[in-house]
Amino acid sequence: MRLGILGSGSGSNMQAILDAIAAGTLDADIALVLSDNPEGYILERAKKAGIPTGLIDCRGFRTKFPEEAQAETVAALKAAGVDLICLAGFMRLVKAPLLEAFPNRILNIHPALLPAFPGVAAWKQAIEAKATESGCSVHFVDGGMDTGPVILQAKVPVFPDDTAETLHQRIQVEEHRLYPEAIRKVAAAL
Ligand code: GRF
Repeated sequence: MRLGILGSGSGSNMQAILDAIAAGTLDADIALVLSDNPEGYILERAKKAGIPTGLIDCRGFRTKFPEEAQAETVAALKAAGVDLICLAGFMRLVKAPLLEAFPNRILNIHPALLPAFPGVAAWKQAIEAKATESGCSVHFVDGGMDTGPVILQAKVPVFPDDTAETLHQRIQVEEHRLYPEAIRKVAAAL
């Protein structure tokens, strides 16, 4: 199983996938890591691990993922022989042509128990809603904002004195365990 990872930020989930591969608990290779953010630490992590990286040029659009950029992304992933794409903190909505090129082969991790709290800063949304429980979800990407069939979820408690940061940290611990497990589950069914 050759994985392609797309991320915009720190890349701790990419690291967790890499660690699971190194530990022998996930039978896969990370073939390529792509980021729309040249400053994203995910690129540093990948380079340190000797994984090929690339920049996605979004033509100056702040949040949009332009069609030409998606077509270039498809070409890069295909050239790298990628079988499964993992979005790991990727901050743009994936649409056709990327979705059409990898049907049912794109996963995302979201820091809430979907369908609760889709969208940005889900941990902050949970605090503001005074939720007593939250967590994370790995799901198939279907072109919506954090929609698509859920593969696995993990719950965490929300404590009365939690801040957005403390809750996000607790969720991330579960994310790092859950993402490799979800990839294993999907790979076994392919
Ligand atoms: C994670 O919390 C993930 O659920 C969300 O963005 C964050 C990315 O973190 N989609 P990292 O870049 O993997 O550290």
